[in-house]
Amino acid sequence: MKTIFSGIQPSGVITLGNYIGAMKQFVELQDDYNCYFCIVDQHAITVPQDRLALRKNIRSLAAFYLAVGIDPNKSTLFIQSEVPAHAQAGWILQCIAYIGELERMTQFKDKSAGKEAVSAGLLTYPPLMAADILLYSTDIVPVGEDQKQHIELTRDLAERFNKRYGDIFTIPEARIPKIGARIMSLTDPTKKMSKSDPNQKSYITLLDDAKTIEKKVKSAVTDSEGIIRYDKENKPGVSNLLTIYSILANKPIEQLEERYAGKGYGEFKADVAQVIIDALTPIQEKYYELMESSKLDDILDEGAEKANRVASKMLKKMENAIGLGRKRR
Ligand code: TYM
Repeated sequence: MKTIFSGIQPSGVITLGNYIGAMKQFVELQDDYNCYFCIVDQHAITVPQDRLALRKNIRSLAAFYLAVGIDPNKSTLFIQSEVPAHAQAGWILQCIAYIGELERMTQFKDKSAGKEAVSAGLLTYPPLMAADILLYSTDIVPVGEDQKQHIELTRDLAERFNKRYGDIFTIPEARIPKIGARIMSLTDPTKKMSKSDPNQKSYITLLDDAKTIEKKVKSAVTDSEGIIRYDKENKPGVSNLLTIYSILANKPIEQLEERYAGKGYGEFKADVAQVIIDALTPIQEKYYELMESSKLDDILDEGAEKANRVASKMLKKMENAIGLGRKRR
């Protein structure tokens, strides 16, 4: 069975973009792959985090993973900081990476732009992400479009390491969904939907209630053409809503275009909102139930134990290959 690894940062709300671009794929893949899903809390602290909020977001993200359908009997769910090999392997991979290639990462450029003080961790974020992936001999990394560059760097680092020290790492591949890999902001559909956007109307969170979803979709930016058709270049707002609708209702975009031919944006938006509400309601019910139960801790304990076993073995291999420490029998 091939291995899958992916991670999500517990840095605030989880958006519909995270769900469509990443989590929804995870659920579909777990029957056919050996899956590891991670709450990457060490990545979250590359920007300042409030201690109590971080703790809460970690637990909340664990509950979301399960609520969307990750089955702990099939997949390993764990918290990055509970598996020390990630930071240790991350250090080694920092020593393989070049500053120039890290500075070229668009996420680094975006997150550091205009900031006076930027943490070194923001720059060395991708080698830690590479460690996450490579420690598990991962074949496939399901992610949204914005992570593609990080996976390419992971491949480069793995190849560089293998060349210097022997064939240790499996070279992973990104798996990016054909549609929905980049869900756009509702207020500026030329930008990615992002939890760090200061305008809350720009994103839908997995915990938004029906009224909020209706309001946000109603005020979503479209255009003045009044025709519901997919055209990403000229009609980014309508195209984004069609994408969301198509994925959540499991209907091809062409079928939706036919269905809404001659109809106005008002009716279309009301239906988009309803489709989102129908998708999120069962997730929210499960989420609140899980947050109340102790089941969550048992699952995370078990996940950390399994991940530690696999990751520490790979770390040893890396250290041996490089010549760190003493030779052990
Ligand atoms: P993060 O936490 O920003 O996002 C988690 C996942 O959600 C996807 N995503 C989106 N997909 C479609 N449309 C959007 N608007 C949208 N916004 C976010 C992201 O592509 C991602 O798949 N660096 C990663 C976390 C990470 C990781 C890893 C991922 C750390 N280690 C190892 C994979 C493997 C990140 O910041 O994701």
